[in-house]
Amino acid sequence: MSREQLAEHLAFFRELGVAGVSREASWKARAEQPAQSAVVPVREVVSERRADESLDQIRADIGDCTRCKLHTLGRTQIVFGVGNPQAELMFVGEAPGADEDEQGVPFIGRAGQLLTKIIEAIELTRDDVYIANVIKCRPPQNRNPEPDEVAQCEPFLFRQIDLIRPKVIVALGKFAAQCLLRTTEPITKLRGREFAYRDAVLMPTYHPAYLLRNPSAKREVWEDMKRVRVLLEQARPS
Ligand code: URA
Repeated sequence: MSREQLAEHLAFFRELGVAGVSREASWKARAEQPAQSAVVPVREVVSERRADESLDQIRADIGDCTRCKLHTLGRTQIVFGVGNPQAELMFVGEAPGADEDEQGVPFIGRAGQLLTKIIEAIELTRDDVYIANVIKCRPPQNRNPEPDEVAQCEPFLFRQIDLIRPKVIVALGKFAAQCLLRTTEPITKLRGREFAYRDAVLMPTYHPAYLLRNPSAKREVWEDMKRVRVLLEQARPS
């Protein structure tokens, strides 16, 4: 890492509210302890992985979707997902915002730029991970997705997850976490915990848009991401 990159990293950690960065055993040992809970199994919606499945196939099946009312409510295009189809780490957000709707790529607005920094803080790039949303079309005025919209759209996310088979899934924010875990527990209670989900460990954390409004919560996200880094290391064959 160059001096400039290191300075940038440290600036980000300061921005995250982290006083110092250390690769020493002490933080690592702490991070290696499950943060708040052991992995909690959840009842899942299990889908069969199809023999001919590919991301292109899933995208083709979505087509120019008219399954829910969002296609009549001003969406520009479907925002499918982006990144490495073999990613070990997958991020799941809520739904596209205005920038994503315009460009067809998830998490590229202000919140997305913060997510990119968070990914880079654990020494990965957006090309290493996969990023998708529960809902593929922008809800008008960024309102919360409605149950019928979720019901129509989430099967495509499940197919993406089953195809990519990430080791770790980070659910960004209350909506994604509650939807994937089929719970109404608040994000403050869910974040930092580890759930067995499909073949992965699912870790809910705060949404980057929330961090833009509440910068002090970055510290907790950094704690969650350190744990994610350890989970990824543990999942690799030794
Ligand atoms: N917020 C999300 O949940 N997803 C995006 O793609 C952008 C903002």
